[in-house]
Amino acid sequence: MAENEKRQATKLVEGGRRREWCGRLVNPPVERASTLLFDCVADLESGTPRLGEYRYGLQGTATHWALSEALTQLEPEAAGTALFSSGLAAITTALLAVLAPGDELLVTDSVYGPTRRFCDTILERMGIATRYYPPTIGSGISELIGSHTRAILLESPGSLTMEVQDVPAICAEAAGRNIVTLMDNTWATPLFFPALSAGVDISILAATKYVGGHADLLLGTVSAKAKYFTRIQRTAWDLGHAVSADDAWLALRGLRTMAVRLKQHQEGALTVAHWLKEQPQVGKVLHPALPDCPGHELWARDFKGSSGLFSFELTDAGEDACAAFVDRLDIFGIGYSWGGYESLAMPAKPRRTVSISPAENLIRLHIGLEDPEDLIADLAASIAAM
Ligand SMILES: Cc1ncc(COP(=O)(O)O)c(C=O)c1O
Repeated sequence: MAENEKRQATKLVEGGRRREWCGRLVNPPVERASTLLFDCVADLESGTPRLGEYRYGLQGTATHWALSEALTQLEPEAAGTALFSSGLAAITTALLAVLAPGDELLVTDSVYGPTRRFCDTILERMGIATRYYPPTIGSGISELIGSHTRAILLESPGSLTMEVQDVPAICAEAAGRNIVTLMDNTWATPLFFPALSAGVDISILAATKYVGGHADLLLGTVSAKAKYFTRIQRTAWDLGHAVSADDAWLALRGLRTMAVRLKQHQEGALTVAHWLKEQPQVGKVLHPALPDCPGHELWARDFKGSSGLFSFELTDAGEDACAAFVDRLDIFGIGYSWGGYESLAMPAKPRRTVSISPAENLIRLHIGLEDPEDLIADLAASIAAM
């Protein structure tokens, strides 16, 4: 069977398992290295750093290359995948690779908070201006594009307020003007939204979430089309970004089961979201697969599935009542991040500058792999105690 005919679940199992990297093992071994030894000075001094060649620890070893290759194969239009020590490092380095002083960047108002902070502090200091756009803007983005606009950063859905964007429309406007599009695709992963095929140039994952899947590692990835990949990889090396071989190996182990885990996250989250929708104490349920969610019809048009993260409004509840609601939960943990096998809950407090601020009474859930009926019982007990 030709490689490009294989389906995503098959690619997840086979990706990166080259004989020269794995030998007779099913999995590539953990190759920990800073120094790699050469046969002679001529070899030491020859060539330029590239993925897939032993040179120095920064360029990785077979463990890293296997993970990169497996991720690249999930996005048919990707020329390669660079690895980073966190999702945030992947986002900030991709931006640094494509922007220069004097440029303007357009960023969705629903963006992950620390990404916003990077734009408003470090990019600002470098003379790169950020303007925020409402996530529901679609092709209306063309009205914001000016002569200095160099890049657009999308995140769909937004990870607190869940607005789904018209990614193909935004990318079409950008492509016509030679503007680079970057997308934080952590929620859907390439399994539920093949971002590069939708027109995005650079697709970013916080692999900390669904790729790792077990709440035990931090890692970020950037998969890019040929026009941008070399520049992104070079920028990562120039900035000295490195990932430990142990974490690359752990992420690769997580990746092998991502399709089955995502199916389970999807099923559990939908069960809980539909139950919440029926509760009189619950207002809007912001889950892309439910009609309350802004951009729900775009999700239905463009996505192949939904993952485990969504938000809902507790009616007639202020900040304290929301905190107490979360504190009363037993199975749900309270903590940052998501995408692991365990369920999490937290009050969602998004910051907005150009779009309507969501209600104060928003709770974000990550639905893990527990039995959804137990999660519903946990939520029901906390609602009953309100
Ligand atoms: C949507 C989104 N993008 C990026 C990140 C950053 O990932 P990391 O925690 O690996 O830096 C997060 C983390 O919560 C996130 O929710």
